[in-house]
Amino acid sequence: MTVPRVLVFDSGVGGLSVADCIHRQLPGVKLVYLADNAGFPYGAQPESVVIERSQALIRLALSEFPCDVIVVACNTASTVVLPYLRAMTSIPVVGVVPAVKPAAAVSENRRIGLLATPATVRRPYLADLIDEFASDCTVERLGHPDLVQWIENLVSGSPVPEQALSVALQPFRDVGVDTVVLGCTHYPLIKDLLQRQLPAVKHWVDSGEAIARRAIWLFEQQGLVLESLMALDSEGGVVDAALFSGDVPQGIGGFLNELGLATSDIR
Ligand code: SIN
Repeated sequence: MTVPRVLVFDSGVGGLSVADCIHRQLPGVKLVYLADNAGFPYGAQPESVVIERSQALIRLALSEFPCDVIVVACNTASTVVLPYLRAMTSIPVVGVVPAVKPAAAVSENRRIGLLATPATVRRPYLADLIDEFASDCTVERLGHPDLVQWIENLVSGSPVPEQALSVALQPFRDVGVDTVVLGCTHYPLIKDLLQRQLPAVKHWVDSGEAIARRAIWLFEQQGLVLESLMALDSEGGVVDAALFSGDVPQGIGGFLNELGLATSDIR
C-alpha cells in the first residue's frame, strides 16, 4: 500500500501544531518534520536568507525522504518562499496565513484579537487580509516579540512566564475581543494557557485544521488517500524523522511523544 508522506517545515517547533492537525485528520499518514532552528527566528531574517535557507534545507530533506506534499508551517516563510519552492519542485506546496477569514465568520461582537509575531503584524499582506475579510471588525493586532522563543523554550522544560504573558494580552481584554486568531503556528502549542488567561474569549482560531484539510485534498488529487489511512494508525511510528538544521533541541523526544508524534529518528 502506498502511504502518503508529508514534509512539514518551520523555523522551529511551531510547525508541530500543524503536524499534529494533519496526524489527527489522517492518522495513517507519514510525516517528516524539518526545522531550521539554526535560522530561527525567520521574522528577524532578511527575506533572501529565508528563501535560500528554506530551499536548501527542503531540497536536502527531500533527497532522503521523498514526500507527496510540502507544508510550510511558518507564517514568515509562507509569505516569501512559496513561489520559489513551487519553481524548485513539482511536489505541491501549502503555506499558512493567519486565519482572519474564519475568525470574521465566527465573531459575534465583531471584535477580534490577532496574536502573531512582530514580523507578521508588520507585513502588508495582513492588512490586506483584514481589509478583504474582516473590514467590519475591530482587529486588535498584537505582535509579541518573545512568545515564539518562550514556546521554543518549553521543549527543554522552561515554562512560559505566565505573568508577563498575561500583561501582554491586556489589549485583548481592553477591547473585549470574543475571538482570537493564533497567527503563528507556535501559538496553538500553548492554547490551554492562553484560554486560561483570556476566559472571556469564545472562539480560538488557527490555521492548522485548514492546512491539514488542504494537504489531504492534495493527496486525493494525486490518488493517494486510501480510506484505511483515515482510521488506522501508522505502523512503526508517526514521524519518519525529525530533522534540525542546528543543535537538536534538548527534550525534543519527550515533546514529540507528548504530542503523539513519536519518532526514533531525531537529528
Ligand atoms: C519565526 O521564525 O519568526 C517565528 C515563526 C513565524 O514566523 O510565524
